[in-house]
Amino acid sequence: MTTRTVRIAISGLGNLGARFIKLMLDKRNELRDRYDLDLVIVAAVDSRGAAQDPRGLDLNLVLNTKESTGTIGNYPRCGTLGMTSLDLAGQVSADVWCDATPVNIDRKAEPGISCIRTAMRRGMHVVTPNKGPIVLFYQELTQLARECGVQLRFGGTVAGGLPALYIGRRDLRGARIERMEAIPNLVTGFILDHIAAGSSWEQALDLAKGEGVLEADPSWDLDGWDAAAKLVILTNAVLSYPTRLEDVELTGITGLSTQDIRSGRRMRLLATAVRAGSGYELRVAPQSLSEDHPLAHLGPKEMGITYYTDIYGTITATIKEETPLPSAATMLRDILDIMLKTEA
Ligand SMILES: NC(=O)c1ccc[n+]([C@@H]2O[C@H](COP(=O)([O-])OP(=O)(O)OC[C@H]3O[C@@H](n4cnc5c(N)ncnc54)[C@H](OP(=O)(O)O)[C@@H]3O)[C@@H](O)[C@H]2O)c1
Repeated sequence: MTTRTVRIAISGLGNLGARFIKLMLDKRNELRDRYDLDLVIVAAVDSRGAAQDPRGLDLNLVLNTKESTGTIGNYPRCGTLGMTSLDLAGQVSADVWCDATPVNIDRKAEPGISCIRTAMRRGMHVVTPNKGPIVLFYQELTQLARECGVQLRFGGTVAGGLPALYIGRRDLRGARIERMEAIPNLVTGFILDHIAAGSSWEQALDLAKGEGVLEADPSWDLDGWDAAAKLVILTNAVLSYPTRLEDVELTGITGLSTQDIRSGRRMRLLATAVRAGSGYELRVAPQSLSEDHPLAHLGPKEMGITYYTDIYGTITATIKEETPLPSAATMLRDILDIMLKTEA
């Protein structure tokens, strides 16, 4: 079998983007041997510049340039300061566009959404762990992917490295999902467990900040928007029920007292979809989980999902995510899923 080259362009070189580059560096030979696929990063862009080389960028140099100068725009010879991700999406020759830029719901998912549309129209498959474009534009993007004959994968948008979407879409084929319960947000579980163990709210928030798991704007996690966004993605993509953020009944964790949290049962921000008539009722709210709940034993760095189905019983999957590596690795899983299904 001949080795197929897969040309990848990546937008965003932060926690996930840089880890993905490192992953490509570590795994390139293994992937070539195992799958006959040669994954080559031909372009990378951050908020201040871009670099592209059709023969493949030197990944050590990508990481060093980003770390030492702050932007990939300074990459020797092939870097361009000031080149935007949209400029790059409009001109790069690549097979896959990876978007690892910030969610930016308030900015209508820019810059991710415009780049994704451009990449698809130019014939690129799209892989993204960025919830913004998927939660706001799921129907449009899946339709656009069909029209353009490309694949869209977003396995990293729900619960980090947990294959929650793959299980729901692939492994539950033919089932009716009566109920879906998820703990898709790591930060809230981390904070709740520390308060349950005796920390004050302030101490728990400081610990979360220290671990680097709390966003600059903590309300996205604490008020439940992150969990709601993930529930919307699951509902659209797994339950095939067209849904928007406004459809989720939402209560965050900030209204809980330390007494509520120390009730003895594990408290979690639970995202739930329950079948009702021809659709689903969607809710995100803190819940104290009884001992026999399938997600009651999740630790502070764990996330999980339970599907209650008509024919496959009850299926639970969980992940312990100590670092963002599993989240970054979802881009690899998505790329392999596309490439191993697509004829050369
Ligand atoms: N971190 C996680 O554990 C995790 C898990 C699952 C999903 N996600 C999602 O994955 C995405 C990336 O997360 P992250 O933690 O890697 O974020 P991050 O560390 O904030 O990195 C964001 C990257 O996007 C770049 N960027 C910002 N605006 C841009 C623009 N206009 N054009 C091009 N690049 C731009 C930034 O550039 P500069 O470097 O120049 O600032 C940075 O490199 C987010 O959507 C996040 O929700 C993250």
